[in-house]
Amino acid sequence: MKKIAVLTSGGDAPGMNPCIRAVVRTAGYYGIEAYGVNYGYQGMIDNDIIRLQSRDVRFIIDKGGTMLYSARCKQFHEHEFRKKAFENLKAHGIEGLVAIGGDGTFTGAQIFSSEYDIPVIGIPGTIDNDIAGTDVTLGYDTASNTAMEAIDKIRDTSTSHNRLFLVEVMGRDAGDIALRCGLAVGAIATFIPEKKGEFDQLVKSLERAKARKKRANIIVVAEGEETGGAIKLSEMINERFPEYETRVSILGHMQRGGSPTVFDRELAARMGVKAVEALKAGERNQMVAMVNNTLQLVPLEKAVTERAEVNPEKIRMLEILSR
Ligand code: F6P
Repeated sequence: MKKIAVLTSGGDAPGMNPCIRAVVRTAGYYGIEAYGVNYGYQGMIDNDIIRLQSRDVRFIIDKGGTMLYSARCKQFHEHEFRKKAFENLKAHGIEGLVAIGGDGTFTGAQIFSSEYDIPVIGIPGTIDNDIAGTDVTLGYDTASNTAMEAIDKIRDTSTSHNRLFLVEVMGRDAGDIALRCGLAVGAIATFIPEKKGEFDQLVKSLERAKARKKRANIIVVAEGEETGGAIKLSEMINERFPEYETRVSILGHMQRGGSPTVFDRELAARMGVKAVEALKAGERNQMVAMVNNTLQLVPLEKAVTERAEVNPEKIRMLEILSR
């Protein structure tokens, strides 16, 4: 293998930049030319492909976002555009691809590499931590730390005013940021898309808190939970408990930015090296995964077809600790 390309696609995640750096520098180490594709699959279609050398990835190790930009590319769903993308890669002599992103990115990679003879190695990069086959994804640690720090600040004012706060965190289909933060901030309840019927449980908890005259509390809500998010939930609470003074805080895209934590930088470095070494060893259509603290390759197929489950232990422990 003489030339490889790296791209980032889907929602950006802190850790993508140090991962690009690791891919480019590992390629250089093995005498492989590295290329960067701007705007994910869109850049493959538009031939927005640049040569990347070691010095081009200086100064990005501590930066959030992605120097290669990102996009959710609709055109890549169509065969004629994937053909164009392949022709562009071929024209550059690119023989292998590292795709950093989430399940949408991997679905695209799967289809692309089954149509054209080009090996792809995926690196799980999404704040949601919702990729099957890996214990953790790039960006999850930074995003959950960002959310936790914001909630800690909210708790100060919540306590001062004896108010019940609903803090909405990201996670359209996945509740892991909410769960982790719920545990980390001592939330009275956590609402996630994967668990239904949580409101009845909350009612009981609020009754208990009311009896103890404790109104200040934090509820962590994943944006995609069943009732429709923090605003809707606060209306339901106000109706049932008019004595509670509630406030809503939606953290939003701040969770996707910021300097990656040491955990995410280390993960990015290790996964980036492993991806290039995998391509070099002739692997194809695999995802670099962290399983029980060990880097492994798992078939992209698994990441695409299986659903990542939330850890039931975390849910159980939240129930114990929120009483
Ligand atoms: O990347 C994952 C994610 O941040 C989800 O948690 C969130 O629901 C979604 O992306 C938001 O996407 P967009 O930035 O396209 O609005």
